[in-house]
Amino acid sequence: MTKQNHPSGDAAVRANLEAWEEVAPIHAGHNQADLLRAFARPGHSVLDEDTKATFAQLGVAGKSVAQLCCNNGRELVSLKALGAGRCVGFDGSPAFVEQARELNAAAGQDCEFVAGDIHAVPAQYDGSFDILYVTIGVLTWMPDLRAFFDVAARLAKPGGHFLIEEQHPIMHMIEPGAPDAPVEWLYSYFQKHPFAEEGLDYWGETTYEATTNYSYQHTMGDTINAAIAAGFDIVRLDERPDHISNTWYNVEKQGPIMPMSFDLLLRRR
Ligand SMILES: C[S@@+](CC[C@H](N)C(=O)[O-])C[C@H]1O[C@@H](n2cnc3c(N)ncnc32)[C@H](O)[C@@H]1O
Repeated sequence: MTKQNHPSGDAAVRANLEAWEEVAPIHAGHNQADLLRAFARPGHSVLDEDTKATFAQLGVAGKSVAQLCCNNGRELVSLKALGAGRCVGFDGSPAFVEQARELNAAAGQDCEFVAGDIHAVPAQYDGSFDILYVTIGVLTWMPDLRAFFDVAARLAKPGGHFLIEEQHPIMHMIEPGAPDAPVEWLYSYFQKHPFAEEGLDYWGETTYEATTNYSYQHTMGDTINAAIAAGFDIVRLDERPDHISNTWYNVEKQGPIMPMSFDLLLRRR
């Protein structure tokens, strides 16, 4: 058996931040002009009806909200349009943060965006938020889930909620593909070493000279146990058949046979 070399968690995070920064202008080339036009219309939202209903149940109006790893900010700016109070988005890519500020300006909103590794969010934000929010494709970039949830725990107010809408970890067992691609179960649900890949243009599918990125498999139990250990209680976990990424069309084509995503609602103790 050959021994594979895998980067340390810190080295993986550094490589990933570089890889995200590199793809930011490529994503903007596909999306930003349309998003700017859309957000110039008052009240524009990219959130689906289920998400809006959950935020309504949480009484988002007037509440302080932080989105962790917010990418181009389109979801946070949409939340602001639902009446949220102070909104702060954190992302490790300065170029995506810049795009978020542009969308915020187009919408005439006052969301704040902070660039930097999520593990190093400044202490000035501690205990500031009624609601934390994470959407698809964030947990997989975290080598150490407990460290990630520790940051969330310090940002949340006691009693504050944390809504996570993510792809289901079972998806990482299957190679993504177009609708007619075969569904191949290639990877262990319990894989511990990261997946190493080049290229993050999941909007345009272009290839470019890319820094290797490292993503991690976290089982549902890993996620729940890390959240509990960091100081959150589980309010609700819904496993859903909905395909919320733009990658596993081969699985979507099979119909609602397995969970493709999940919603996890936590409450800070
Ligand atoms: C797939 S996007 C998910 C965001 C959102 N769901 C979306 O669809 O736009 C992942 C985001 O996480 C950010 N990210 C990854 N690792 C990070 C880290 N260590 N600190 C802060 N942001 C990070 C990336 O810059 C990227 O914008």
